[in-house]
Amino acid sequence: MKDFFENLVSCPDDPILSQTWRYQNDPRAEKVNLGVGMYMDESGRTPVLDVVKEAEEVLAKEHIPHTYIPISGLQQYDRLVQKLVFGEQSEVFETGRACTVQTLGGTGALSLGMTFLNRSCGCTQGASSIPTWGNHNDIMAQAGLQVRGYRYYDRENAGVDFSGMIEDMKAMPAGTVVVLHACCHNPTGYDLSESQWHEVIDVCRHYNLVPFLDMAYQGFKQGLNEDAMAVRLFAKSGLTFLAASSFSKSFNLYGERVGALTVVTPSAEEAERVQSHLKSCARADYSNPPAFGGRIVEYVLSDPERFARWEQEVAGMRERIRLMRRMLAEEVKKAGAPRDFSFVERQAGMFSFTGLTPEQIDRLATDFGIYAVRNGRICICGLNQGNVRYVAQSFARVMQD
Ligand code: LMR
Repeated sequence: MKDFFENLVSCPDDPILSQTWRYQNDPRAEKVNLGVGMYMDESGRTPVLDVVKEAEEVLAKEHIPHTYIPISGLQQYDRLVQKLVFGEQSEVFETGRACTVQTLGGTGALSLGMTFLNRSCGCTQGASSIPTWGNHNDIMAQAGLQVRGYRYYDRENAGVDFSGMIEDMKAMPAGTVVVLHACCHNPTGYDLSESQWHEVIDVCRHYNLVPFLDMAYQGFKQGLNEDAMAVRLFAKSGLTFLAASSFSKSFNLYGERVGALTVVTPSAEEAERVQSHLKSCARADYSNPPAFGGRIVEYVLSDPERFARWEQEVAGMRERIRLMRRMLAEEVKKAGAPRDFSFVERQAGMFSFTGLTPEQIDRLATDFGIYAVRNGRICICGLNQGNVRYVAQSFARVMQD
C-alpha cells in the first residue's frame, strides 16, 4: 500500500513558541529570550506566585480524587470568573444572562468560541487586527471561518490607526466575528481609549458584527478592574458578545491551561441554551477541562484576603514590566541608536512592537543570542536589570548596520 502521508508537506514551526526551543539550545551565557509571552522575574525565571504556592500546598493535602469535572468546568470557578470579568455586583452576573465555561487557557476559550459560532450559529467570516496574535487567525481558520484583517497598527504615528479600523469594520459583512483585544494588544502594546471603545461598540451594533473580546492580560496594564473596561462597556451596551479569559499570565499558570469562555446574551434563558451548545462542542473536543489549575484559581478568587494578595502580586509584575520599559528606552538612547525608543513606554502589557525588521531580528539571534518574534515583537518580561543594557546595545548595533 502506498504510504498515506507520503505527500504531506511539513508545517512551519510556530513563530512564537519555536523561539523558546531555539533559545534553550543556544549555549551562549549572555542569551536572552524575548520571544514567548511568559512572565519572568529579575532572575530570569517564571515565579510561582506566593498565593499559588499556598493553594498548591492546601490542595495537595486534600488529596482530592481525580474524577472528571463537569464539561463546563468547576461551577464555582465559572462564577468567580464572571465576577472578575464584570466586577462585583455586575448586572450581567446578577441576572445570569452570561454563561461561562472553563477552558484550556485563553487559546482553548477562543477555539471553543469559534467552533460554537461556526457549528451552532453558522458564522463563516472572521476578522482580526493587523497585526494580531498569529494564533487568532489559525484558530478561526481551524474552526471553519474565513479570516480577513482590519487596520490597527499605525507605524508612522506609533499608535492605532483608528479611522482605518472603523472603516474596515464598517465594510465587514453582517455576522462577521470580530476579534478585539480587550487590553494589552498583542503584539503592538497599543490599546483603544474609552471613547474609541464606545465607537467600536456602535459599529458592532449597527453593522451586526459579533464581537469576541480576547482578554489574556487582565491586570497587566493598570489593574484588574481598569483593564476590564472594554469588556464592561460591552456588557453595559446590551450587545451579545463573547469574551475569552486566561489565567496563564496573571497567575503564571501557563502549563496548567486555565482559562474561560464567557458568552453574554440578553437573557438567562438564552445563556442557558448557549451553554448547552458550548458543552456539546467541548465534549466532542476534549470532553472536560483539567481540574488542577482551575482549583488553584478558585482557591484564590474565592477568598477576599487571598484575592487581595494575588492582586498585589499582579501589581508587582506590572510594575517590573513598567520599569523594564523605562530602562530599555533609556539604554537604547545611551547606546546611540539611530531611532528613538521612547514609544515602548507608551505601550502596555507584556509586549512591544519595536519596528525591528525580520532581518534585524534574525541578526539579534545569530550575533547576540537574543530571541524575539520575526514581526518585531519583543516580550518585555524577558528583560531584567542584568541584561537590559546588553539588549539595548545589541538593538542599537543591528539598527546602525
Ligand atoms: C504569546 O503571544 O507569546 C503568548 O500568548 C503565548 C502563545 O501561546 O503564543
